[in-house]
Order: sequence, then C-alpha cells, then structure tokens
Amino acid sequence: MHERIVDLPPHEYTAEGLRCFEYVDREHTAAAAAQFIAQTIHHDPQALITFATGGTMEPVLAYLSQSGVNASDVQAQHLDEYVGAHPDYDPESFVRFLRQRVFSPLRIQYTHELNGMAASPEAEAERYEAVVSTRPADLVILGIGPGGHIAFNEVDTPFDLGVHVQQLAPETIQRDILRGQPRRDQALTQGPRNIIAGKQIMLVLYGDQKGKWLADCLTGPIDPHYPASVLRLPNVTPRVTVFLDQAAGRILRSC
Ligand code: PGA
Repeated sequence: MHERIVDLPPHEYTAEGLRCFEYVDREHTAAAAAQFIAQTIHHDPQALITFATGGTMEPVLAYLSQSGVNASDVQAQHLDEYVGAHPDYDPESFVRFLRQRVFSPLRIQYTHELNGMAASPEAEAERYEAVVSTRPADLVILGIGPGGHIAFNEVDTPFDLGVHVQQLAPETIQRDILRGQPRRDQALTQGPRNIIAGKQIMLVLYGDQKGKWLADCLTGPIDPHYPASVLRLPNVTPRVTVFLDQAAGRILRSC
C-alpha cells in the first residue's frame, strides 16, 4: 500500500520554542515521523516507546512496520484506551489497533497494555500509573485532537495528573460517533505528567483543523485550558519535535 516515497527536505522552524519539521503533505510527514521512530529504535534497541493510535498514526505506523527496523527488544506501552473497549472484539479498541499495526508486524514482545475492560477503571488507572512511572519513556508519540487534547487529556485536565479515567469532551464523543464508532464516554489515559516525563516527545499532525488546535495551544497561555500548551513548559520544549504537513503549518505560521 505504502510505496517508498521520495525524500524531500522539510521546512524547518521553531514555533514557541518547539522544533517543527513541515513536509509537503500527509504522506511525507508520516514517512518522516516513522523514520524518527525507527532511528530511536536503531539507537537503542531496548527503547521504551509510548505509542499513540488513531487516524494520524495509521500511515506513520504503516511506514514504521515496513521500515525493516528490528524492534523485537523494544518495550511498548500506550497512551490511552476507551473504557469498555475489548481488544479482541471492538474495532475501536486502541489496544487492538496497536496489536494489529505495531506489536504483531514488528514482533514486539514486551508490551504494557491498558485494560479497557477492567471491572474498576480507577483501579486499572492506578495499576497502569505504577507501570508507566517505573521508567521514563525514551519516546512518547502524540497526535492532537479536539480542543488541543493530547492522548485523551481534554480541556482543563490539570498538568500534574498521571494515568486517570477521563470523561470525554462532547466534541470528542461527537467526532468518534461521526467516524462510525459506538458511543464511548470515558477513556483511560496517560496524563500530562506522564507525557512530559518522556525523554523525547514527538507530535504529529496533518490538516488545517489540527493546525488550528495546535496554534491555539501555542498562542494562548500555558494553561490546562489548552492541553497541548503543556509542551511549551521551558523544561519540556527542548525534548519536543513536531512533524506536520503544509496545511497545518500554514495555520501555525500565520499566527
Ligand atoms: P486522530 O486522533 O489521529 O484519530 O485524529 C488524534 C487525537 O484525538 O489525539
């Protein structure tokens, strides 16, 4: 499906201190993001990587799985999962997505999964917090969603929150329903505190809507009301790399 695409140099700049690599379109952006992940694994075959899911990640992870990188010793964990989603039966399950698109094709043996079917989501959040706080991730992979959310940290999620049960915002619920998914009101998610503990953090986005969400988080105050603005904290910024397409970049650069 994904043929090797022509390497084109990115347009490189910083926005509010974040290093941005802008590519001509979604495919080139996704291929470059996959290359960044593959390089992390080449550099440290036992890297601990926090994987994201969703539409943004589909081409990134497709490129990564075709990259030929040896990821068998990677430690994989993930950002979030819908409460009530069963990885064996529910197509919207993020664990299912990662098993099919990453863990299995890359033969990753060491995976730390969130259990959306846990009888007590709160107890599952506590369990996963203990897992992810054992060691900072070498790379945290992020997309951006409605209101500038990162993982499922919706607007007004405190920056010091760890893994928690998140009530989804109406815009997120609506988006998911429009995508043909069953209604899910809650998710388990790594919190801003877990995300910014990453040694490297990469954010991937395409299109003007996502460009606008990111622009709002870069031009507004550094505040939980703008979830992705947590990436602008001075001790976090040097560890962040943004991969975006021209449509998103045009919005960002016009702010
Ligand atoms: P998407 O989700 O890549 O499916 O748009 C990203 C997000 O909601 O963070």
